[in-house]
Amino acid sequence: MSASQVSNARLPRHVVVVMDGNGRWAKRRGMPRNLGHRQGQKATRAIVEACAQRGIEALTLFAFSSENWNRPPAEVGTLLALFLESLHTELAELHAQGVRLRFIGQREAFAVELVAQMHSAEQITIANRGLTLVIALSYGGRWDLLQAARAVAAEPVIDEATFARHLALDGLPEPDLFIRTGGEQRLSNFLLWDLAYTELYFTATLWPDFDGAALDGALAWFGTRERRFGQVAAGA
Ligand code: FPP
Repeated sequence: MSASQVSNARLPRHVVVVMDGNGRWAKRRGMPRNLGHRQGQKATRAIVEACAQRGIEALTLFAFSSENWNRPPAEVGTLLALFLESLHTELAELHAQGVRLRFIGQREAFAVELVAQMHSAEQITIANRGLTLVIALSYGGRWDLLQAARAVAAEPVIDEATFARHLALDGLPEPDLFIRTGGEQRLSNFLLWDLAYTELYFTATLWPDFDGAALDGALAWFGTRERRFGQVAAGA
């Protein structure tokens, strides 16, 4: 079944992705890991465009986790340089496509230039009504819960809705579909609160090889899922 056969009613509103496997993609070709990340950037570009074309409302990408700071400094440097370069080269096109950009994570950890670019990209695209593209940078699900807990402590009433308003993804529909490439089957401290009822899709495909057809495979699988949100199936 291809995605074109999946009716819009079954299309996820919000897709979140752990883009894993850049390093292995390069290693299998005898290339340095950096080239895997560069190829991963190309895949990212194609998937953003594919999601926008298919009418998905929001796409959240795990680009750099709180734990990724522990990688060798040269690799961290390469990744940060790649993010900054991508912002420079892609912003105009994303804006033209009506994409609204948003960054989540601990920004204070980044160089002033990158933080300024992130802020400027958010401001430029803030009124866009196409795909909302959320890039998680220096993000961790536990960090998100902790910062929300600190902020919510000042609220007179603390319930699920109040708590969620202090989380990084506030204002977006809850993720419907989680995709992880690269073969591992874990959440790796991604959106711990937000993934409570999300359908989880794992594929061995490495991120640089994840293309529009692979996305359609995930969307078709999502279309077959019966979502019960803790209730019983109709007619059960
Ligand atoms: C995981 O592969 C990937 C990352 C830590 C970085 C993700 C970055 C990109 C896809 C580049 C561009 C992104 C943007 C938003 C411009 P890995 O290195 O953990 O792979 P491995 O498990 O095979 O070692």
